[in-house]
Amino acid sequence: MSISLTRYLVEEQRAKGRIPSELRLLLEVVARACKSISHAVNKGALGSELGDVMGSAGIENVQGEVQKKLDIIANDVLIEANEWGGHLAAMASEEMDSIHVVPNRYPQGEYLLMFDPLDGSSNIEVNVSIGTIFSVLKKVSNNAAVTEQDFLQPGTQQVAAGYCVYGPQTTLVLTVGDGVAMFTLDREQGSFVLTQENVKVPEDTKEFAINMSNMRHWDAPVKRYVDECLAGKEGPRGKDFNMRWIASMVADVHRILTRGGIFMYPWDKREPEKPGKLRLMYEANPMSWLIEQAGGAATNGNQRILDLEPKQLHQRVSVILGSKNEVERVTKYHVTP
Ligand code: AHG
Ligand code: MN
Ligand code: MN
Repeated sequence: MSISLTRYLVEEQRAKGRIPSELRLLLEVVARACKSISHAVNKGALGSELGDVMGSAGIENVQGEVQKKLDIIANDVLIEANEWGGHLAAMASEEMDSIHVVPNRYPQGEYLLMFDPLDGSSNIEVNVSIGTIFSVLKKVSNNAAVTEQDFLQPGTQQVAAGYCVYGPQTTLVLTVGDGVAMFTLDREQGSFVLTQENVKVPEDTKEFAINMSNMRHWDAPVKRYVDECLAGKEGPRGKDFNMRWIASMVADVHRILTRGGIFMYPWDKREPEKPGKLRLMYEANPMSWLIEQAGGAATNGNQRILDLEPKQLHQRVSVILGSKNEVERVTKYHVTP
């Protein structure tokens, strides 16, 4: 018997008392939005949704990156799906400079939703997996007005987090703090079906993921770790390693949740004033919680990512996550070089 996402959420609510009905509604709405994004992604060149916003001239988001049409479409789909349900106070996104407060004409709920509407945008045109990443917090202040400050909570405060990967299959991966569950989109039924529960990341691995073209810019601990992997059987690790880099964090993390591995997007000397490329609030935090819930680990080289006190909505962070023993090794190289 197959278990739908709806049933899974109802059971988490009823049997385990884990999710209040407002959060259940929120997750259902996010899943519905992902279904619609999956549809737009699947159309590819048949739709008119490929390419940069405003042609080759392009416009940039707050991160200084050229926005693709699908970045904006996915962002709009998530906003429109979520603003009227009464479950949210506000939303924040990679594609919006500031927070989007639920308009006055709708009731305001107590949750805060953050997302990277389309992760791995450089892979859209080349038909390689991309995804949506999301993180849910609760508004803790009693202030009537929602501000950016309400979002600045450490990752440990997340009440739900997940992603949807648009690949050969569309898979929604979710945690509400009770392990990690995966749901595959059944296109005939139009619903997400539970396909794996209690996902576990193996503690050891022989596979690493990093953009090797940045090697000359890395810091010594990351260089040491990768050099040791590359030395293979004859080196200090005594085994051969394999490498993968999809350039979609969702797809790389999905592989790690499926068969283990380590993912690194560390600080590097290209832009020394930035702590890294990836964003803490809607990329690193949700992914780190999923990985930890599956028995893996996630640090910025020095500290657990989930413990970091955010200062800004769009702040960046260095990311090392995946199989526990490997993440601990790289972290140790940072702490005691
Ligand atoms: P986004 O498309 O949301 O801006 O994120 C892309 C991120 C991440 O998904 C991926 O791991 C990384 O950028 C790839 O960066 P490089 O092109 O520098 O390898
Ligand atoms: Mn991203
Ligand atoms: Mn993105």
